[in-house]
Order: sequence, then structure tokens, then C-alpha cells
Amino acid sequence: MSGGFVLPIRDDLVGQESYGAPQLDVAARLNVNENPFDLPDDLAEAMGRAVAEAAISLNRYPDRDATDLRLALAEYVAREAGAPVDVSQVWAANGSNEVMHQLFLAFGGPGRLAITFDPTYSMYPEYARDTFTEFATYSRTEDFAVDIPVALAAIAERRPSIVVVTSPNNPTGTALPIQDLTTLAEGARLAGAMLIVDEAYAEFRHDGVPSAVSLLADHPNMVVTRTMSKAFALAGARLGYCVAADPAVVSTLMVVRLPYHLSAVTQAVARTALAHADVLQAQVALLRRERDSLAAWLVEEGLRVSPSDANFLLFGTFPDRDEVWRGLLARDVLVRQTGPEGWLRVSIGTPEENDRFRSALRDVLGADHEGQGRREDDRS
Ligand SMILES: Cc1ncc(COP(=O)(O)O)c(C=O)c1O
Repeated sequence: MSGGFVLPIRDDLVGQESYGAPQLDVAARLNVNENPFDLPDDLAEAMGRAVAEAAISLNRYPDRDATDLRLALAEYVAREAGAPVDVSQVWAANGSNEVMHQLFLAFGGPGRLAITFDPTYSMYPEYARDTFTEFATYSRTEDFAVDIPVALAAIAERRPSIVVVTSPNNPTGTALPIQDLTTLAEGARLAGAMLIVDEAYAEFRHDGVPSAVSLLADHPNMVVTRTMSKAFALAGARLGYCVAADPAVVSTLMVVRLPYHLSAVTQAVARTALAHADVLQAQVALLRRERDSLAAWLVEEGLRVSPSDANFLLFGTFPDRDEVWRGLLARDVLVRQTGPEGWLRVSIGTPEENDRFRSALRDVLGADHEGQGRREDDRS
């Protein structure tokens, strides 16, 4: 700006925009897959006390290995997934975004390739860009499953060092069958690649759908990432973690992490939330029921819905999704324009927010689905 100085910004960052969905003040904020419930008073108060206690020692750097927190996470995830997990397999950071970034730092890099399967979470190419990792995507099938023969062929031919799969997938909600995960893990192992399974939405899966954590004992190249942003209603606290088959993954992440990356306040808040996991699980159960009934309602309305094991639904299809999105926003409901053309994604809100979404959508589409917002199928 001043004196004609041209900032020596990295060439590949010039003109790039920062990631971010709109943060608007509307009655129903259903665009970033947050847990819509405020924290219960008891829990918020317990967190306040834990933070006050941590505050006394804020003159000191925090436990850089977050050992107590990782012990609590290991105990929680072992119980949730029904598989043994040792603290040496668990690593925590500021959101699963940071965990994934660290995984790319450790396993990606110049001359290395990461692959994933579109449509999926939009941050993966950014982790690749930041770490100078080449990035390639392969298409999912019509019903948003990973095309296993295509994936195996790509892995064998391109020999990536990282394969990322998201299950349940964002934005489609699709959970991968455990057999597909096993096949992918094996294919990745043969190619010398890590298989990272992003389970940000794991707690919302239907009963009987196993977690990839149950596969770790048999697949040394697997890492499962998770977050407290969704099921634990802690998006504002920033706590994500991973569980690796091989503890050497964790010691490598300790090499690339920044010193003291996880503040004492964050560690105290997360430990308190884990101690109250059962209260939060009741919210998750309600959100799962709300999701299933909203999905059924959307189908009754004549729309397509991708089967979801997450706390959101991808629905459509619309000839002009932007117009439907704007129509909903005009009625104080914010959803997300993401995924393949014609689809919209709605996060599951409180029962009241979901009702507001239903009546807003009905209004936008018109009772008889006439007008701009009608289904694409209706055009013919
Ligand atoms: C698939 C997926 N992974 C990871 C994240 C990041 O979560 P956080 O960094 O809040 O843990 C998100 C957030 O929406 C997500 O959808």
C-alpha cells in the first residue's frame, strides 16, 4: 500500500479469498452444521469454574502434550466407538481443521499427493495448498458413495501419500460402508499411503453404523479425525482430535505442531465437556430424531434428500438454488449453497428452527411447487 511497496506474497496466494460461510444475524442459522442448543447452565457454570482455576496459572505455558485431555478423549472415543483406544494414539488441537492441517504437514509436502472424493468438505484443498501438497479429487457415484474401483485404481496408479475420506460426508451426509473403508485402507496401505477418515459428524450416525475407529487395530495406516464442534456443542471452543492406529503418527504430529498450540483454557473447557458427555448425548439423540423427521418431510414435499448420518441434510434439486436460498434468507432462515449444482444443505436446528425452515421452504416453493423454486424434475 505505502511507498509503492509490493508485498512479497506467495504467488499461489495472490488473489485467494479466505474461507468462510456468511455469519448473519437471522432467526434460524442453519448453515454451518453447528449444534443449535446453548450449553446447559450446569455445564456452562462448571466450565466457568474450570476456566477460573486454569486462569490462576496462565502465567505458565500449558501442558504442551495435553496429556489429561488426551486421556479423557481416549476414554470417551473408546466408549463411543466400542473399540480399545490408548492415549498414545490420541492427539488434540484447535479444531479438527488444525489436526488435519498437522496431518498434511506430517504426511504431505512438496512432491507428494493427497486425494479425496468430491463432493466433499471444501477445506481439504486448502490444507494441501498450505503444505505444498499436490491435490487431486475423484468423483463420487450418483448416490454420493465413493466409487471403490475408481478409488482403488487411482490410489494404485497415482500413489498418493494421503487419502482423505469423510464419513459421514459433508455436504452429502453419506456414511461409508465399513467394508468400503476396509478396502480403501488396504488399497492405501499397499500404495504406502495414509488413510485419513474425517469423522467430524460420527456421533450423529444411525444405530448400527460402525465408526472407523473400530478398524484401527487392523490397519496401521489409518487415522480417524473427530471434533467437539458438533456433537459436544463446542464449535466456539475449538477442539478437534484424532485417533491413529500407530502411536508414531502422534509423535510425528508433536514434531510439526507449534509450541504450546492448545491453550490451558481450551484444555480445561474440553475436559469439562467430556466429563458431561452424557448430558450432551441427549441433545445428539434429539437432533438425530429431528434429522430423520425433517428428511421424511422433505421427501413428502416431493424433494430429493441424500440419506444422512450427520446433523444436516442435502436436499434439492432446484433449477435455481440461489433463488431458493435467497427466498429462505428473506424469511430469516440461513442455509448453505454447497455441493453439486441444484442442491442446498440445511443443518438440523432446534425443533422450533426446523419448523421455521419447513414453513419458509413451503412458502418459497409455493404450495403447489409452481414457480422458480419448483423441483428440477418438475420442469419436464
Ligand atoms: C467434514 C468436516 N471436517 C472438519 C470440520 C472442521 O471442524 P472443526 O475444525 O470445528 O473441528 C468440519 C466443519 O464443519 C467438517 O464439516
